[in-house]
Amino acid sequence: MIDYVQEIERLKIEKNAIILAHYYQIPEIQDIADYVGDSLGLAQAAAETKAEIIVFAGVHFMAETAKILNPNKKVLLPDLEAGCSLAASCHPVDFAKFRSKYPDHIVLSYINCTAGIKELSDVIVTSGNAVQIVESFPKDQKIIFAPDKNLGAYINQLTGRNMILWDGICEVHDQLTTEAIINLKLLNPEAQVIAHPECDGAILTLADMVGSTTAMLKYTENTNFKKYIVASETGILHQMQKKSPEKEFLVVPKDETCSCNDCPYMKLNTLEKLYLAMKNESPNIELEADVIDRAKKPIIKMLDISKKLGLI
Ligand code: 13P
Ligand code: SF4
Repeated sequence: MIDYVQEIERLKIEKNAIILAHYYQIPEIQDIADYVGDSLGLAQAAAETKAEIIVFAGVHFMAETAKILNPNKKVLLPDLEAGCSLAASCHPVDFAKFRSKYPDHIVLSYINCTAGIKELSDVIVTSGNAVQIVESFPKDQKIIFAPDKNLGAYINQLTGRNMILWDGICEVHDQLTTEAIINLKLLNPEAQVIAHPECDGAILTLADMVGSTTAMLKYTENTNFKKYIVASETGILHQMQKKSPEKEFLVVPKDETCSCNDCPYMKLNTLEKLYLAMKNESPNIELEADVIDRAKKPIIKMLDISKKLGLI
């Protein structure tokens, strides 16, 4: 019987590898990672690492972003099938046609998109910096926002902009209902409702706080409520519970029969697959050099603006 934790720790040193994990990974993976964060933090960690191999415990677009920022390094993804409904909703051929209808607009794309969409974008944003990056442009700047229509509509509402939205959703957050939140709130009137901006607008209006996974985590650490109703993916509860063991976190049920909002793509990664990926140095992300060149520009722009605004 292989001790995966021990073997992964050994391979990290032997191969000079770093494990970057998103908050939606299973707790065992979060606990063995060198860095756990949201998409913005992960992109920054990928941009700054000195390790020779990056092991990305997340989904494909995240590992692709790490590869774009580190074309000469090996970037491993434990399961190549770990996709994302938002990234899948926006094909570059369809998006190029859509963009051509608005020639005087710039394109801001949520990081949850393929390298092919990043190539067609002017600036990338994440849930941790989207509002501030939109506001860094003049009020009359015409903008296309892709691929998450819920996040786009939320930014439009907060900033008073009228960005043209691509019609994509996160299948995990979009399935949550106001009914489920209201039922939980009736049973727990003292609880704070915190929501990820990939949720539908009706849910966001019910929330006491809306933010990226990192922002939600910080909010639960820095406020003194005893209970939180969390409208997001279940993985984030692991860090919340670790940082605030005395508080209670309730995940919004998907429906009456299931209370697990697990992202089916994030949850494809297991300790065994992580170990095998490190041992075999495969599967790894491959991208053409010209794709990397084009897709890198809007990501670097995002990191530069975020630094200027003091967000990272
Ligand atoms: P953040 O962690 O950047 O908020 O993104 C959430 C998400 O759905 C990632 O796929
Ligand atoms: Fe994509 Fe949603 Fe899963 Fe994040 S939680 S990877 S946005 S499907």
